[in-house]
Amino acid sequence: MRRTIDWASGAIEIVDQVALPGEYRTLRLRTVPELIDAIQRLAVRGAPALGAAGALGVALAAFAGGDVGAAAQRIAHARPTAVNLAWGVERALAMLPHGADAVLAEARAMLDEDERRNRAASGHAAEFVLAQCSRRPLRLLSHCNTGQLATVAWGTALGVVWHLHARGLVESVLVDETRPLLQGSRLTAWELEQAGVPYRVQPDSAAAAAMARGMVDCVLVGADRIAANGDVANKIGTYGLAIAAAHHGVPFVVVAPTSTVDERLASGADIAIEERADGELTEFAGTPVAPAGAAAFNPAFDVTPAALITAVVTENGVRGQHRSGGAPSRDRVREGPLEGI
Ligand code: MRU
Repeated sequence: MRRTIDWASGAIEIVDQVALPGEYRTLRLRTVPELIDAIQRLAVRGAPALGAAGALGVALAAFAGGDVGAAAQRIAHARPTAVNLAWGVERALAMLPHGADAVLAEARAMLDEDERRNRAASGHAAEFVLAQCSRRPLRLLSHCNTGQLATVAWGTALGVVWHLHARGLVESVLVDETRPLLQGSRLTAWELEQAGVPYRVQPDSAAAAAMARGMVDCVLVGADRIAANGDVANKIGTYGLAIAAAHHGVPFVVVAPTSTVDERLASGADIAIEERADGELTEFAGTPVAPAGAAAFNPAFDVTPAALITAVVTENGVRGQHRSGGAPSRDRVREGPLEGI
């Protein structure tokens, strides 16, 4: 598969994730407003891909001239939760004194790095999963989309599946559909299909029942921001998944590049959580599915306390190991920083 996001002939080229799984097509983004619109519509999404979008966006602004600093600020604030977006913007912007070509060179270097980091992080995580779980082949559970499409290339948590599948060690993947925008059923299932990995899509609400029935050896998720204490912001539903995994003694592993770690934030309580439009819940494909005028609570992300996470794995290896994967750890969960989040 081609890169999810790249620079081509003076513009940003992305795989249009809104069109999948029906159509695989690319979009060319020639201006900063077009890029911001694509980010907010989730045509380009996933924390590492957003980091690349931020950096390439500064290159677009630098070649266009004008107030590059102001344009960079607008890009950095297009979505609030994934720290990678602001990280990508800041790193590219630091090259602006050397000219637009230097900004682009830095952005391109970041794209190359993204694939290296994700392959390494998911490789370390694959070894960790094999050490945690005795069953072979493995039955894994995925939430949201953490594959190639969420990154420049390869993927994070789904990258673990690629590594293990190559060794014949994956029996199947349970794919949370990921309400309300269906990144699981639209994108993760599509990637698994392309790769020939056996999978089943399930409603998010089936995950705890699947664990109770002994159908899950390990839960693998990505992250949008990891606080200094190991709390993790990720797609809405991750927190509930972690509670269920802790209850059932199922390892819960977070895989992310270090660009997702925000050491400036002491804990997850400080992470800004994006709230999206009511219509994403009150309508389905344009058809009303709630009474006219119904209000909605539609947070795009939640925060999972470190105490519920077996390990956070980056390209540097296991960054933090907080709960043992074996026996149910309900008492330890109650002792953790659950309150106040
Ligand atoms: O709203 P999205 O689709 O951008 O949310 C993406 C996620 O929550 C992913 O799990 C996260 O960015 C990690 S992707 C490697």
